[in-house]
Amino acid sequence: MSVRLPDSALERLRNAKRVAVMTGAGISAESGIPTFRDAQTGLWAKYDPADLATPEAFQRDPKLVWRWYQWRRELVGRAAPNAGHSALAALERRLGDRFRLITQNVDGLHARAGSERVLPLHGDITRDKCFDHGHPMQSSPEDEQPPACPECGSLARPGVVWFGESLPEETLLEAIEWSRTADVFLSVGTSSVVQPAASLAHEALRNQALLIEVNLADTPLSGQALILRGAAGEVLPRLVEQLDEDG
Ligand code: OAD
Repeated sequence: MSVRLPDSALERLRNAKRVAVMTGAGISAESGIPTFRDAQTGLWAKYDPADLATPEAFQRDPKLVWRWYQWRRELVGRAAPNAGHSALAALERRLGDRFRLITQNVDGLHARAGSERVLPLHGDITRDKCFDHGHPMQSSPEDEQPPACPECGSLARPGVVWFGESLPEETLLEAIEWSRTADVFLSVGTSSVVQPAASLAHEALRNQALLIEVNLADTPLSGQALILRGAAGEVLPRLVEQLDEDG
């Protein structure tokens, strides 16, 4: 275990025709956005996803769900991208169209750090759509309850994927294609337990990709990965520095 990539892995990264990166909540933790499964600070340690992150929860109590998402939007609005997000944007500038960033995060911090080739699997918390038909909507941070859709009258909901819902099809298909064909798959700050996102690293492994994991802790992927143990905001800038050293 090390925070430096061995030379052989560095060479594979430099020469890769395709690099797929998967990020999860851990990369935004250093921006002050809580993860989901941390035993103390994780959102799911305090709240039950069945009450807040399913279509049924919204139908039962739209105001409760709405207010929880308004609070999370406020957190995201106050947050800024950290050195981990910036390092991935730098990696993309280096690799260009050989690079895709698949993310489970809904906070938009990758785009704000300058990443362009982003595949957001779980949607975008800053957007709204109506519950019944998905008409795009625009609410205000002051709305204490979900406004009604001007087109059909159904209530606004956040533009994220909830448990029990399908992922955006085209984005998922592109993410699968990149995972299947990647020479290097870099998994950052995700517990790798939520499907189908977690299966993408296995798609990459089936194609003999080099799997690199950046995480503070072990995950179900760790046994098959080259592990860079540490905070994404520290490890990723070093990884990019290493690539720049004499490559
Ligand atoms: P989790 O909360 O499940 O996992 C966060 C991971 O980040 C853990 O493995 C931590 O060890 C790691 N971590 C924490 N801080 C870190 C840091 N500074 N640097 C590196 N790693 C760090 O979050 P996700 O895996 O993103 O979905 O969760 C996946 C999905 O479950 C989310 O997209 C969300 C959630 O429920 C939906 O809401 C549909």
